[in-house]
Amino acid sequence: MLLELQGVVAGYLKGVDVLQGIDLYVNAGEMVCLIGPNGAGKSTVLRTISGLLKPSQGLIHFDGQDIAGLQPDLVLRQGIAHVPQGHSAFPVMTVNENLLMGAYLLKDRADRKHRLERVYDMFDMLAGRRKEKAGNLSGGQQKVLEIGRALMMKPRLIMFDEPSLGLAPITAKIVFGAIKRLQEEAGITILMVEQNAKSGLAISDRAYVLELGKDQLEGPAHQLLNDPRVAQLYLGGSTLEATEEGREIVVEELA
Ligand SMILES: Nc1ncnc2c1ncn2[C@@H]1O[C@H](COP(=O)(O)OP(=O)(O)OP(=O)(O)O)[C@@H](O)[C@H]1O
Ligand SMILES: [Mg+2]
Repeated sequence: MLLELQGVVAGYLKGVDVLQGIDLYVNAGEMVCLIGPNGAGKSTVLRTISGLLKPSQGLIHFDGQDIAGLQPDLVLRQGIAHVPQGHSAFPVMTVNENLLMGAYLLKDRADRKHRLERVYDMFDMLAGRRKEKAGNLSGGQQKVLEIGRALMMKPRLIMFDEPSLGLAPITAKIVFGAIKRLQEEAGITILMVEQNAKSGLAISDRAYVLELGKDQLEGPAHQLLNDPRVAQLYLGGSTLEATEEGREIVVEELA
């Protein structure tokens, strides 16, 4: 188990717990998807793991170490990167400068340069736009830039918060493809929140359904894709596509 949460309680205001006892784990090399309605606390789970919020109760272990309540820069140093919901690239900075921001914790210049080239090796699209201002990139390209920035510290785990939000379906597929490559080619473990439950479940190994600050369902992603409760709430009410055949179609579309 690379990441484990047990009974995590956290919130923004004193006495108001948004997370009411979260239990989840992510094995090394796995892609785990978190789905659930608006306001369920999905982003709050990621923020609590990355150190932006301190849990008032519960355990957060990463690679056997207790990381609950650590400052965000220390969590990043431990090997967890966080790609937040919405746009987080700096629009007036170039692609190159944005990527370097991802390695601000590294003191060694040669080291930073080396990481930069590895990211460019992985994403040609970024390599061809080094000097371009991030604000001039399309929404999908900016997401790939954010992925590249997250890679700069060579994390073992990357958390994505709704990576396909606001993207056209075709662009979303490119972004999901890039995330899948991180898992398959770079061996990075992924914890992803996704509103587009069908695509999120189709590319993930396991999933959790979060409601009202608690995890209500957990299982292999394909099993949840076939679960009538999940279909009703998150897949547009139809179980028709939530079949093995449906999963194959979605996976094919994403390829
Ligand atoms: N900065 C904040 N200050 C106070 N309350 C907040 C803050 N951010 C979120 N909340 C509250 O915490 C609860 C969970 O929010 P969260 O953003 O984690 O949900 P979510 O599952 O990510 O939703 P969405 O699908 O809309 O992104 C909501 O009731 C929300 O209003
Ligand atoms: Mg959210």
